[in-house]
Parts: sequence; structure tokens; C-alpha cells
Amino acid sequence: MEIIIQATPEAATSVAARIVARLLREKPNAVLGLATGSTPLLLYRALIDMKLDWRRVTTFNLDEYIGLPQDHPQSYHSFMWENLFRHINIPKENVNIPDGNASDIPGCCAAYEQRIRDAGGIDLQILGIGTDGHIGFNEPTSSLASRTRIKTLTPQTRKDNARFFGSEADVPGHVITMGIGTIMEARQNLMLAFGNNKARAIAEAVEGPITTINPASILQMHPDAKVCLDAEAAAQLKRAEYYRWVYDNKPDWQHL
Ligand code: GLP
Repeated sequence: MEIIIQATPEAATSVAARIVARLLREKPNAVLGLATGSTPLLLYRALIDMKLDWRRVTTFNLDEYIGLPQDHPQSYHSFMWENLFRHINIPKENVNIPDGNASDIPGCCAAYEQRIRDAGGIDLQILGIGTDGHIGFNEPTSSLASRTRIKTLTPQTRKDNARFFGSEADVPGHVITMGIGTIMEARQNLMLAFGNNKARAIAEAVEGPITTINPASILQMHPDAKVCLDAEAAAQLKRAEYYRWVYDNKPDWQHL
């Protein structure tokens, strides 16, 4: 794991944006895994401003709520079109988001896995992290080998996401999410976390044991995982000074 600590969310985002932009320039037909939530918003804004060419890019989103109409303002379909897709030149047919209204949810999940395989696998997966360490919507105790499937949200996640819905009761209880096994197959993982409320989950994920209780901790087993943090999200890392030193002293040829 490479831990990149910057003073602010903006600075951490600009490191992440450079990584994504480089991939899109080097591989115009890249397959990108995308995330929702407040964390990647700055990244999407930065990528829009970079005016990259998305014509041959394929995207796969991590997750979607079950039962919310696609045009509901809080569906992840709406989120992605509003905050990224409508501002870039990606063809609609290259966008993949799980269908939370499918009549056959298990069939839809299996088809999603197949579409990822058919696309050649995900080159770079963007991730946020829940306050309980979830990635995608893989809540604590999710199998570390899981594939795209239905999950039930924890009360904590519904509480965290209530800010988007008005009340906790309005947050759907079920979701479709890529599995942890699916995420681990991405060739590169890039996790972003900002703010005090992520500090504990990040410390556990980066420096704690690998455990289903903090699903993001599995990234310790990924051969190419980067974690971009602001100072607040890094506040509980015991080896923060070491990570800062490593990043500041990277040989030029290694720097992004
Ligand atoms: C949501 C999403 C995750 C996201 C996380 C954190 O529930 N399913 O992909 O990383 O919660 O969200 P935020 O970035 O708003 O803190």
C-alpha cells in the first residue's frame, strides 16, 4: 500500500486526478471503476476540468441502492450523471452501473461480473471508505472473496447516508455492490478519504489486521493500492511521518 498524505482534500485529490489522467492518456480505452459519496466529488470536478478524452473509456460503478427509481436524485445513476458523465464525452453505452430495479437481482449481479470480464477487467478502481471501513457497500463481515451481490446496509451506514435523503428511514436498506473479490481483481486500487470521521477506519485499514470487520483492510493484500488522504483522515496513523517521508523522497522516475 502506498499512503499519500496531503494537507487538504484538494491537494490529495490533485494527486489522485493526476493518476487517473495519466492512465487515460496512456490507455485511451481504459476500464475505470468509479465510486459515489461525497469523497470523489472533488476528483470528478478535477477530471472534468482536465478535459480528458473519454470516448473509448468504459466505466463500472461499485454499487447502487435497490428499489430507488433510476431518476431519484439520490440514486447512484443520478449521482454519476449529474457529477461526472454529463460533463464529459463518454458514450452512454460505455457506462455501467448496477441496476437496483432489476427483477432478477442475482442474475443482474452475475451479468455485471461478466460485463467486467468481457471488458478485460478493471484497470483502476476508485474507492471511498465508510466510517465502518466499508468499500463499495461491502459492510463489515462481508466475505473477502465476495462478488457482486445484494447486501443489507448497517444502521451506521444508513445513519451516515441519511444526510443525503433527509432521514434515516428514507435510506434504502438493500443495495447491489461489487464484491471485495471483484474489487481486489482491479489492476490498481486508489482509495480516497478526507476528514476526521474517517481517521479511525483508515488507521484500522492501513495499520490494523486484515479483517472482515474492516473490509478496506484487504487492500493490504493488493499489489497496487494507493491511499490518498488529507491530514485529518491520516490523524490516527502511527507511521504517518514515515509515509510522508516516503512520498516526499520518491525518486523522480517513481513520482506521479
Ligand atoms: C457510501 C458508498 C461508498 C462510499 C462511502 C463513503 O455508502 N457506497 O462507496 O465510499 O459510503 O461515503 P462518503 O464519501 O460520502 O463519506
